[in-house]
Amino acid sequence: MKMSWAALLAMFAALPVMPAQAKDEPLAATGRWSPYTDGRAQTPPMGWSSWNAFATDIDEDKILGSAQALVRDGLAAKGYRYVNIDDGWAMQRRVKDGALIIRPGRFPLTNQPGRNASFRPLTDKLHGMGLKAGIYSDLGRNTCSQAFSPDETDLPKGSVLEREIGLYGHIDQDIDLFFSKWGFDFIKVDGCGVRAYGPDSEKVQTGKYRMLPPILNMDFVNRSDIPAVQGLFGQINAALDRNNPDGDYLLSLCIWGAADVRSWGKNVGNISRTSDDINPSWGRMLTNFDTAAKRAFYAHPGSWNDPDMLNIGKGDFDENHLTEARSHMTMWAMINAPLMIGMDLRQAPKSLLDIFGNAKVIAIDQDPAGHQAVVAFDSDDVQIFVKTLSTGEKAVAIFNRSAAPLEVDLTAAQMKYRDATDVTLVDLWNGQKRSFRTTTKMPIAGHQTLLFTARGSRMLDNGLYLSEQPGNVNPAVDGVTQPTPDPTIHRSATGWQRTRGSGEGPIYAGWGGVQPDRAPYGETLAINGKRFDTGIGVLANSRLEVRNHGYRHFVATVGVNDSARDTNRAATFAVYGDGKLLANSRELKWGSAGQQIAADVTGVKVIELVTRSTSSSAPPLPTTWADAALLKR
Ligand code: GLA
Repeated sequence: MKMSWAALLAMFAALPVMPAQAKDEPLAATGRWSPYTDGRAQTPPMGWSSWNAFATDIDEDKILGSAQALVRDGLAAKGYRYVNIDDGWAMQRRVKDGALIIRPGRFPLTNQPGRNASFRPLTDKLHGMGLKAGIYSDLGRNTCSQAFSPDETDLPKGSVLEREIGLYGHIDQDIDLFFSKWGFDFIKVDGCGVRAYGPDSEKVQTGKYRMLPPILNMDFVNRSDIPAVQGLFGQINAALDRNNPDGDYLLSLCIWGAADVRSWGKNVGNISRTSDDINPSWGRMLTNFDTAAKRAFYAHPGSWNDPDMLNIGKGDFDENHLTEARSHMTMWAMINAPLMIGMDLRQAPKSLLDIFGNAKVIAIDQDPAGHQAVVAFDSDDVQIFVKTLSTGEKAVAIFNRSAAPLEVDLTAAQMKYRDATDVTLVDLWNGQKRSFRTTTKMPIAGHQTLLFTARGSRMLDNGLYLSEQPGNVNPAVDGVTQPTPDPTIHRSATGWQRTRGSGEGPIYAGWGGVQPDRAPYGETLAINGKRFDTGIGVLANSRLEVRNHGYRHFVATVGVNDSARDTNRAATFAVYGDGKLLANSRELKWGSAGQQIAADVTGVKVIELVTRSTSSSAPPLPTTWADAALLKR
């Protein structure tokens, strides 16, 4: 017999309050919300970066020219504030005192007769224009262009030691220089210096650069030294604290999904790259998108997934490919990606400025609730993403990844709306309105993305499912014990290697991570043959932190997911409120019916959902918090 939530609550109220376990136990409830919230990234950062437009061939005219265009064309007023100088600005590091020297001749504003050049006049100028300023460095001694640039023209000059312009061994000194002295507001920290200068590097062997044992490996996650990489970012965090009393900074992690950073980047920085570099091809855009698209629970206000800068303006996204350019912009907005323009804005045609400047699309990216879109329908050609907005509406994107035109069906249920009432859609690219009930058909062109805001009657009218609010759910421990590459990420032929070699293998770890409305590994949510459209799929031995914004009840139906490979194991499920046990389940095996679980969370700030496997954990056990929701009454 099904019990009412009130009866369940009364039953759980009688549970003894157990003290939180020792803090060194990762599954022990802490009562804390742990993702990174320092710095200024309450919404994803927006701006412009020099890299996709100019690579290392940068100078003041190009940077200020694009900054002026941001203001002139009204993009700054729409939120594009950061003007980021990427790789290529440094000339050398003076050996006697470690001072960084700016490339002479490239930035006339920085000249100070009789003293070291300083970026301060340039950052002052940008600040005076209402903009913010960003700079680039590397975790190691040397940067990515020093490792990979095919030509020397724009690279640092001088002796081996003088050409060591990265942060390694100089973290505090450089962060002080960039932020306190030079006035920057943003730093991108690349990882080539701790990846590409091992003993086998030809440039190391020929004495061009010093060897630094690699701690990052792009091909094999278990050849990365994850604690060592985290340790360096920890030092950067501490230096930013020391040298940024006003807290106005933004830390951008650029280790391309290596070292399992897709799982932990949210703990140490404001934005974290999930893949290798984008380039202006449709296939590569898909690859970069995929590395972030199913990581909704790993992004929150303050710490966002970064599938790389926009590449609108070139190649498959130039003014002759406006459909593709709109799709790129739309999907970045849906997944709360940073919106960093990567083209030379001094020459941007109006058609592209209109894409960057679509205020309705920008508002989807910048929605203050901070919920990354969730996949509602998935296939190799069409995907449907749904994102909960702070207005109570949904944003819906129908993404035709294929070149062929198609007819698609959109259902009310995909937005968690009721079938029997009207759903109203407003197209954010052409302003058109339409309404439907239950299901509607629409044509979609090849590579097109349809983007709507949607209003309807919610299936859950007195609360919000947790899978509708990923920005409030953080996998403090996601149960993945052996990070393995995600095989579902599209692999394009147009990465760095193009079609040389044997092609990119699956390289981005995180397979088995926490999923909205699906089981880990992308399977259906189901407990003992009963299928659920809504819920959280998570491996056992996990702890999810949930921020509670004033809801009174937590409810879910829990159990081992039918997709478990080992059908003999069991799990228990527990709900904590600000560190205290509120409710727990009995031992549930594969094939046991789901158990309803409920907790009174009135006044609780952080709820924790802990799943424990009752026996050893190989292979990891997929479990389900089906229909998990926060309710008002
Ligand atoms: C790496 C980064 C790029 C860019 C270059 C600069 O490849 O991923 O975004 O910063 O380095 O060399």
